[in-house]
Amino acid sequence: MRTPRLIGWPTATASTGAAQAAAEAERAALVAGLLAQPAQVSPKYFYNALGAHLFGAITELDEYYPTRTEAAIFSRHGAAIAAAVHAVLPSGHALVDLGAGDGAKAEALFSLLAPGRYVAVDIGLAYLGTALARMQQRHPQLELVGVGLDFSTELALPPGLVQGPSLVFYPGSSIGNFGPGESLRLLRQARAVAAGGALLIGVDLAKPRAVLEAAYDDALGVTAAFNLNLLRHVNRVLGSDFEPRDWQHVALFDEPHARIEMHLQARRDLCVRWPGAERRFAAGERLLTEYSYKWTVEGFAAVLRDAGYARVQHWSDERDWFAVMLAWG
Ligand code: AVJ
Repeated sequence: MRTPRLIGWPTATASTGAAQAAAEAERAALVAGLLAQPAQVSPKYFYNALGAHLFGAITELDEYYPTRTEAAIFSRHGAAIAAAVHAVLPSGHALVDLGAGDGAKAEALFSLLAPGRYVAVDIGLAYLGTALARMQQRHPQLELVGVGLDFSTELALPPGLVQGPSLVFYPGSSIGNFGPGESLRLLRQARAVAAGGALLIGVDLAKPRAVLEAAYDDALGVTAAFNLNLLRHVNRVLGSDFEPRDWQHVALFDEPHARIEMHLQARRDLCVRWPGAERRFAAGERLLTEYSYKWTVEGFAAVLRDAGYARVQHWSDERDWFAVMLAWG
């Protein structure tokens, strides 16, 4: 049986000095966000071990429609999607999974898409390693590669890893965390990685405010816990003293920008301290934790064309709540 190959990119393979510099830059970016007006923290800080479990719980909620709607699109249109992919790419192509997590969404498509190599890209190598080792037992012949990479600022894979055209897979509407400008940048970089292949992407669509706000502020408070847990993660990274009890979860749909915004709102006047600095928050002041942009099919297709893709095809559910889009050329 093969064993998965794991690559830390760019830092873990480089010198410890480079890894330290990267950790320092990470902290500096976090501090700059905390000191900004208004304060903000990147949504990547949702995903420590507990945060990943809480996100899993979110996907089970009645109110959180994206995961199950996307899954329904794949189960209903899987054969058509695979046929469209194979019209562009030979079988045996590489499947590059952005934000792979446990790889379950991609694995569910292995039999339809018949990749020759699976390249799972995610921010944490530790988790990827365990997930890929388990996956290798079920797919002894498939070549598995894990790449530890934070592509939120730049997507570029280690040279030589993907030869020839590939299928870049970016499901779950994670693209929604990026604004229109950053989306354009990421979609261009995905097109370069695909190298004449295609991009298969999940995109959440605009819909009535009540549906959106319930999805991001559920009755059980799981999304509130997911949002508050970011403070625990920040405390770990920075040595700060955020007290989750002092903060309230806020989720609202900003219609002009077509985005859900998640904030944490201070319940009282307070001061957060960490080695080297502090930040005061007045009661009611907010810390921005996430944007989740909602698109129209036409709007997202236009961004794909701007990013250089000549052809776009899409599949959606009967309510038009979510779209799976294939872009190539
Ligand atoms: C993982 C970015 C797709 O925006 O719906 C879920 C994250 N935030 N509930 C989303 C999230 C609050 C999710 N994405």
